[in-house]
Amino acid sequence: MRAVLVLLEQAPDSSVIIDGLGQIEPDLISNSELRARAAILLRKADDSDLADEWHMQPEANAATNVIAIDRSAVPVTNQSAHITFDDIGGLENVKKQVRRKIINPFQNKKALFDRFKRKAGGGVLMYGPPGCGKTMLARALAHECNATFLNVRAADILDQYVGNAEKKIAQMFQEARASRPVVLFFDEVEALAQKRQFESSERVNTTVSALLTEMDGFNDNDGVLFLGATNVPWSIDSAFRRPGRFDRTLFVPPPDRVARKFILSGLLKDRPVSEKLDIEHVVEKCTGFSGADLSALVDTAVDIAIEESPSVDALVPLSTNHFQEAMQEVKSSVGEWLGQARSFSEYANSSGMYDDLAAFLKKYAR
Ligand SMILES: Nc1ncnc2c1ncn2[C@@H]1O[C@H](COP(=O)(O)OP(=O)(O)OP(=O)(O)O)[C@@H](O)[C@H]1O
Ligand SMILES: [Mg+2]
Repeated sequence: MRAVLVLLEQAPDSSVIIDGLGQIEPDLISNSELRARAAILLRKADDSDLADEWHMQPEANAATNVIAIDRSAVPVTNQSAHITFDDIGGLENVKKQVRRKIINPFQNKKALFDRFKRKAGGGVLMYGPPGCGKTMLARALAHECNATFLNVRAADILDQYVGNAEKKIAQMFQEARASRPVVLFFDEVEALAQKRQFESSERVNTTVSALLTEMDGFNDNDGVLFLGATNVPWSIDSAFRRPGRFDRTLFVPPPDRVARKFILSGLLKDRPVSEKLDIEHVVEKCTGFSGADLSALVDTAVDIAIEESPSVDALVPLSTNHFQEAMQEVKSSVGEWLGQARSFSEYANSSGMYDDLAAFLKKYAR
């Protein structure tokens, strides 16, 4: 149990803590210190009901054995040079869905896919506020997916000459099919896939049509997967969400409290940090900060500490004060996005596309 708690105390996301402790029967743990630690963790993860269960005193003569939890669900920080899933704070659900759709078909589940006659195709569209890890997740995926990973940039395709963009799209798909299994990543996909009625220009219309045709399942797209990222999902032509194209949409939320702590700890690693730095306090004050905001906050705090430090031998390590001062300058950048997104989730959700966004808004942005 102690080891489990140590792992969960470093978990990048509330859902890991809730899932992990949810699998253990509290009454089986008689040690009150361990129960209290579990309850504290659950309160931080915002599950006060489960926390209360852990907080209550165990029945007399309760057994002490623990039901094992799945450790693979508890990521540990990876030191390797490139980004992996474990470096990304939070987003457990997004990672799970992306794994199911993009990693499993080409990896350990390949035999099962074959056996179930499940074709690997279609795609995932990630959407969410800026700076919350969409591009980072795609970069991690590029190393973990066991397939060719092609980064498709709008600038490489859009062309001022009529007909050229369509030719480039056809050529790109031809190359992609030749290097199957392949993942085509469209970052900031709105640049290529914007709603046709909003843009009267013929050029965009034909580009969108060409892309739709190539992504269509009627073309031989077995083993071709699509991954898209955007922070304006409402400006994407709905034809892109038909089966075989981006047939799953995933909301990439801003980091919750536990994820913010994970990200901040990662950013502070190997930097001079004072014992007086109250990281819980900083995490609490950073509600609504994206990963990118946290990174800017740490940079600003570091700048202040450098200014105060006369030399390397007499440096002033990072403390709560530096963060308080930095917070005067760096503010949350996701609030505006969530405000805009709220109206789409309320008034433009007949297809259910924004269900996970709506659930998030209900829980957090009251
Ligand atoms: N969940 C996260 N875990 C760790 N770091 C994060 C996370 N989210 C964001 N970051 C940090 O913020 C930076 C910006 O994130 P990223 O570029 O992936 O955001 P994005 O969602 O693609 O934003 P945009 O919509 O503006 O393109 C990352 O390089 C990383 O340093
Ligand atoms: Mg991005």
